[in-house]
Amino acid sequence: MGRYLSPPLQRLFDRLAVADQRHSLDVLYALQEKGYKDRDLLAAALLHDVGKTGTTLHLWQRVAIVLLQATWPALLDELAWGDPANWRYAFYIQREHPEIGARLAQENGASPLTVELIRRHQVPLRQPSGSLEDKFLRVLQEADGVG
Ligand SMILES: [Fe+2]
Ligand SMILES: [Fe+2]
Repeated sequence: MGRYLSPPLQRLFDRLAVADQRHSLDVLYALQEKGYKDRDLLAAALLHDVGKTGTTLHLWQRVAIVLLQATWPALLDELAWGDPANWRYAFYIQREHPEIGARLAQENGASPLTVELIRRHQVPLRQPSGSLEDKFLRVLQEADGVG
C-alpha cells in the first residue's frame, strides 16, 4: 500500500474508519486482480472515500443510504444537512464526500488524475470520452460497486 501512497496520503488513509479502510483495500485488490498497476488509479482506489474521514456512520444510516440510493435518491439529497452534531450529517457526507475527499487528497499532494478520479467517483459515467481518466473512472466504479 505504501507503494501507492506518499507519507501524507498514507496518513490521510489512516484517518478513515476501519470499515472504510477495509472497503478501500477491497477496491484496490479488485483492480490489482484485473491487472491494473497504474499508481494514480490505485491511489484513487485507496483514497476514493477519504472524504468520509472523521465520521462514523451508524448501521441504520449505512442501511438507509444504500436503500435510498436505490429507491429515492432525491430524498437522500433532501436529508443532507451540514451540521456535524445533527444525525442528518451522515447524508450530507454521503453527498459531499467525493468533493471533500478530492480536496483533502489535493492538499496532501495527490496527482491531478487521482484527485479527479476521487472527485468523480460517485457520478455515473454516461458517455465515456475514451480518455484515460474516463477509462480509469469506469474500472474504479466497477470495483467500488457504483456501476
Ligand atoms: Fe464513495
Ligand atoms: Fe467506495
